[in-house]
Amino acid sequence: MQTRVEIADFENWGVAAGEAAKVLAAGEVVAVPTETVYGLAALAFNTEAVAKVFEAKERPSFDPLIVHLAGIRDLRRVAVMPEGIEGVVRQLAEAFWPGPLTLVLPKHEDVPDLVTSGLPTVAVRVSKHEIMRRLAKELGPIAAPSANRFGRISPTSARAVMSELEGRIPLIIDGGACSDGLESTIVAVEEGEKRPTLRLLRPGPVTREELRKFGRVVKAGRVTDDRPEAPGTLESHYAPIVPVLLFDKPEEFEPEEGRNYALLSYRGDPKDGYLDRHAWTRVEVLSPGKGKLAEAAVRFFFALRALDTEGIDAIVAEPVSDVGIGSAIMDRLRRAAARQS
Ligand code: TXA
Ligand code: MG
Repeated sequence: MQTRVEIADFENWGVAAGEAAKVLAAGEVVAVPTETVYGLAALAFNTEAVAKVFEAKERPSFDPLIVHLAGIRDLRRVAVMPEGIEGVVRQLAEAFWPGPLTLVLPKHEDVPDLVTSGLPTVAVRVSKHEIMRRLAKELGPIAAPSANRFGRISPTSARAVMSELEGRIPLIIDGGACSDGLESTIVAVEEGEKRPTLRLLRPGPVTREELRKFGRVVKAGRVTDDRPEAPGTLESHYAPIVPVLLFDKPEEFEPEEGRNYALLSYRGDPKDGYLDRHAWTRVEVLSPGKGKLAEAAVRFFFALRALDTEGIDAIVAEPVSDVGIGSAIMDRLRRAAARQS
């Protein structure tokens, strides 16, 4: 299959959106930009189309997809809302949609089991990106996981999608670089005793600190009832082919003779203890200068992908501060490092 790229710049925006809609309506898949990472989209209510998403990504069927909506009004097409959570769901949606927050809610029976991997819940979000919203408005709910092969680095550019899925999908909409750069925060909304419980399944651009106002935030893993753990959070993800090494302290890194190491640096500052430690084959800096976590987040998957190349034996990653969106970066780094051990 030949993979076409349609550029969604100012002049071609309408044409690109129209092409994407045509392909989706025909039951095919399309890679579409969002503010977080590129998604591989299919009509959520078309099981055959959804099956193509799993196939192109080589994604196991036990890992459910996120459903993208045009707006809060479409929520009831895919989710049911018990009284105990209705209020907080509305508050969260009003505060963060359109934007990088995914809510896991009890599922509407119309949503195919393939989308939710047979779970009684569905993950939903409204993307800030106009193309995704327009498609959902025109065609209804759109299922879209990140547009990478299963377990690999999420794509934050059309070029990255191309290197993941070329020949497997008919169309990529190139909307440039993703503005947030990390996947959405995922929160399961559950009834609590006094306040609703927000179970943080995946840290992301909407931070724990921001969520606290809306309910009691608990970490995934601390299961509050007998429900099983969220499927996608169990795997190690974001794994480059080259091993990633993450140390508590820079002194713990002891290079082996004759091997080529790359450094994924936060600020490119020798004071952090990594830069002068070794004659790095290659260095990528996430946020040169003082270091800004939001900028580091935007560049993170780009940099990881750039270092994941032939000739590099291992990527040494400097930690970033584990606060705000830094926690989401650290989550991706730990998972990338876990894959090799
Ligand atoms: O930013 C994003 O969320 C991007 C863009 C494209 O929207 N999408 C994305 O999808 O990251 P994906 O499939 O790569 O990650 C979705 C995660 C998976 O780990 C999956 O297991 C989890 O969401 N998930 C989906 N439905 C769920 C459910 N009902 N309960 C618990 N976890 C769920
Ligand atoms: Mg993914």
